[in-house]
Amino acid sequence: MEKPENCTIVIFGASGDLTKRKLIPALYKLFQHNLLPERFTVLGAARSDLTDKKFRDSALQFVEEKKNETAENFKRHLYYLSLREYSPAEFARLNKKLKELNEELDTGENCIYYLATPPGAFEDIAIALGVEKMQFQGEKSWKRLIIEKPFGESLQTARELNKRLCKIFNENQIYRIDHYLGKETVQNIFVTRFSNGIFEPLWNRNYVNHVEITAAEKDGIGTRGGYYDGTGALRDMVQNHLLQILALIAMEPPASLRPEAIRDEKLKVFESLRIMRPEDVESRVIRGQYVANKIGREIVAGYREEMGVGRNSHAETYVAIKLFIDNWRWGGVPFYLRTGKRMPTTVTEAVIHFRPTPHSLFRITDGTFNQLVIRIQPDEGMLLKVSMKVPGRGYNVQEINMDFHYSELSGQYVPGAYERLLLDAIEGDATLYARGDAVEASWKFIQPVLDAWDKYPGIKLFGYPAGTWGPENADDLIEESGLTWRYPCRNLTGEGSYCEL
Ligand code: BG6
Repeated sequence: MEKPENCTIVIFGASGDLTKRKLIPALYKLFQHNLLPERFTVLGAARSDLTDKKFRDSALQFVEEKKNETAENFKRHLYYLSLREYSPAEFARLNKKLKELNEELDTGENCIYYLATPPGAFEDIAIALGVEKMQFQGEKSWKRLIIEKPFGESLQTARELNKRLCKIFNENQIYRIDHYLGKETVQNIFVTRFSNGIFEPLWNRNYVNHVEITAAEKDGIGTRGGYYDGTGALRDMVQNHLLQILALIAMEPPASLRPEAIRDEKLKVFESLRIMRPEDVESRVIRGQYVANKIGREIVAGYREEMGVGRNSHAETYVAIKLFIDNWRWGGVPFYLRTGKRMPTTVTEAVIHFRPTPHSLFRITDGTFNQLVIRIQPDEGMLLKVSMKVPGRGYNVQEINMDFHYSELSGQYVPGAYERLLLDAIEGDATLYARGDAVEASWKFIQPVLDAWDKYPGIKLFGYPAGTWGPENADDLIEESGLTWRYPCRNLTGEGSYCEL
């Protein structure tokens, strides 16, 4: 395979967690697989006072094999510059440093600026880059900006951020990251739909009864209380990750694999989401917050007892939504989305529930609908539930699983999400990055829910015991249609009593 063009990757927020836990390990893996350019430099920039050596030593903290020759070779590509602040004066120093490194290492002028800082710094960094004219591209050189989530905290702030960034960078230089799009199984939704003749004819309102998307996490909020408390699950998980999965499930086939062709189709899905009226929010969106519980022998703290969280916090750690996509393909089909922290297990999956046969000839022992379960993580794979005859007399029917696990593809290396996304940005492929208009369109759907929560404090926040599947009221959301949520691990139901907060 041809190597990508030489470049420098500047990581802002280089002493932070994201850099250590995700970015450096991903770059290291790419290096190990010989996928990085012939000549490249990673320049960490942050406020901490570090030397190149200290940065090199601490950066590989989360790389598994950090004591071998490859690691030593990789380290030689890492540099560090401490910045007092993200201001034009400091960026003049940064610019000078980049030029010096470039001269010394001959990496060329291509550059990626990775904003791995808290969102409060995004704009300052972009402005300082602009003042120093560091976004300008030559005839044969490029400059790209990768921006981490959260992209805005409301429709208005997302719009403003887009507007300000676009004054400095062209839209095609901006790469808004959503790491779910880098997951192999998320991309596989697209391939499964459009490379098989058997699913697509059924993939519509005539044959699909409803769609369920779940992203459950076993862990609580850990040390991220400071960030999470002002954010909540709707902004943290639904506005981006869950809606991106939804878009891949619901989109029309693109005209080609061009990034813009795919992104155009996803945008149409966001634009077709039925905007909720304030009076519908209480019945269509269930929010919850975990409370202390005993899980096995361990007493697990409630959300309000976590570090950095307000004692009367109203941040939701769980949210379940019933939504509709108003277009010809999906008219009338409910989509149920849910996500939560401190659930019985960690699992992300999308389930297409097909309509039952129009008339039932057989006695069905269990299972009523055919289901296609797309297991995004863990145990990545796909499961098709179909009915089969129970051996013996009569025509008793039972549900069986046709089950595929990615792990069975032995010998195939499955790259992590950040590896894939970083490599795509280096190669200038923005397909798996969110486009500005799509981010705004997804916020348009989310904002009325946030507004209703603000305006009607009477809308309940339900307490659910840590280690359970969230508030029981979320069951009503789906049960009103005579359905139930799919519990990916039936034996893990969790115990404890529910309450109102
Ligand atoms: C992040 C959220 O974007 O995604 C976290 O901020 C969440 O709250 C995480 O835990 C989940 O990502 P993954 O890849 O572990 O499913």
